[in-house]
Amino acid sequence: MTVTTIYVCTTCKTAEDPSPERAGARLMAALAGALGEDGANIRLEGVECLSVCKRPCTVAFGAPGKWTYVYGDFTPDTAPETILAGAALYSATDDGLIPWKQRPDALKKGVIARLPPSVSSPKASEITP
Ligand code: FES
Repeated sequence: MTVTTIYVCTTCKTAEDPSPERAGARLMAALAGALGEDGANIRLEGVECLSVCKRPCTVAFGAPGKWTYVYGDFTPDTAPETILAGAALYSATDDGLIPWKQRPDALKKGVIARLPPSVSSPKASEITP
């Protein structure tokens, strides 16, 4: 089984957020706490901006050979359980495509983009003009 990475934007902020700490940083901390020791095949990686700043808080699921999904509209205090449940479903797939009916509602409503699995780039000498 491949390792799933949850990329967490740590710089997301919300207009109504009363905390001086960025909402994205709080989401990252909450996810780390919720993941605990159980996340053997799930890892967290904080990133500065996923370029969907109008949909805070944002995360992405990625793994080698799988589609990458970007999701938004998460609330730091309540979203970790849903995000980790979604990541577990994602991790259980071969291609990253979670069947629609299995997706938590927050992933149905919050989906922003999906990107095809990356492939090795050909070397310049392998490209014919
Ligand atoms: S600051 Fe979070 S997506 Fe840009």
